[in-house]
This record gives sequence, C-alpha cells and structure tokens, in this order.
Amino acid sequence: CRVVVLISGNGSNLQAIIDGCDDTLTADVVGVISNKPDAYGLVRAHHSEIDTSCVIAHSDETREQYDARLLEAINKYQPDLVVLAGFMRILSDGFVEQFTGKMLNIHPSLLPKYPGLHTHQRAIDAGDSEHGASVHFVTPELDSGPVVLQAKVPVYPGDDVATLSERVHEQEHAIYPMVVKWFSQQRLVMKDGKAYLDNELI
Ligand code: GRF
Repeated sequence: CRVVVLISGNGSNLQAIIDGCDDTLTADVVGVISNKPDAYGLVRAHHSEIDTSCVIAHSDETREQYDARLLEAINKYQPDLVVLAGFMRILSDGFVEQFTGKMLNIHPSLLPKYPGLHTHQRAIDAGDSEHGASVHFVTPELDSGPVVLQAKVPVYPGDDVATLSERVHEQEHAIYPMVVKWFSQQRLVMKDGKAYLDNELI
C-alpha cells in the first residue's frame, strides 16, 4: 500500500507512521508533502530517505487553484492512501472527493466534540474530565468523516495546553500507525459514508 503523508509542521505522527510501516510489510510511505518549507517533518522524511515535495500557497491563488497543484503533487506518487498528519489547510470539497475512502486524518479531540482548532484549550475550558484523539476518514465537512479509532486520556486538574496536548500526542502516535496498518491490510474500508473494520460497522 503506497502511502503519501501531508504535513505542515513537526511531523511526530509522520514519524510514528514511518516507524510503524517498518514493522508492517503492507504499507510504505512513498512521499511526504508539506505546505511549509521549514516543516521539521521534511527533515524526518529525509532521514528515512523518503521523497518530499513542498506545495507552498501563493498569495493570489484561490483554494481550488492551490488544491489543483496539491492534487498533482500527490498523484505523482500514485498513492493508495493519503494521510493528513497535522496538515493545517482546509481542503476544498472537489479535492476531498478525489480521495473518498482513501484519505485519513487525525484530530486532537474526541470527535464529534471540538472539530476545528484549539481543541485542548476548549476541553480544559469546558471542564472535561477526558479528552483524546480521533482518526477518521476525510469527507468534505471539516473533521466530520466517520471515526475509525479514538484514544482517550484523562484531564487532570492543573492541566494546561502543554501538558494535555503532550498526553494526547502520545496516544496519537499509538493509534495512527495502527489505523494505517488496518487500511494497508484492506481490513478497513469506507462504504456509503460509514467506516468498516473486518466488515463490521465501526
Ligand atoms: C496533531 O496534534 C494532530 O492531531 C493535529 O496536528 C498535530 C500534528 O502534530 N491534526 P505532528 O506534526 O504530527 O507532531
């Protein structure tokens, strides 16, 4: 299974997926694409001898124009799966529809709670006693595709965004490689907008 990973920053989830793919013989990260030239994840890819591309947004282009260039960069790798790992751009509907059932995202909340940004602060502000991360298939509506796997963490009194996000990140690194592995083994599919693992509705 040829996997392309899209990043904007540190790429710690990318690293977890690269490491996970070393263990499974079914998935292979064949390319990493960033919208930011200084994303540390690009350095991680180079260390693992994975091809990289940068697709930097021009100030005068529309979202659709950017997404067309991104699509071209992705298609060069002929991927079976596109993995969003901290890719901080909203994707147009037309773009997302090119990858129905073939694109995953990780979101730092227990979806459907807290789609969008600042999820850790929102969980703290709401006084939640648990928080976490969700891996889901990507559909046009932001952070709303069917959830495949979640990891929960406790929220402790005195937590701030730094302590809480670190706890969540650790879980992200456990669940994302697992989901990529399931997909690469063809155990995970999206059908009619729903996610199935081993033919069981998730
Ligand atoms: C993660 O918290 C992920 O949930 C969110 O962006 C962050 C990416 O972190 N979508 P990293 O670049 O993988 O370290």
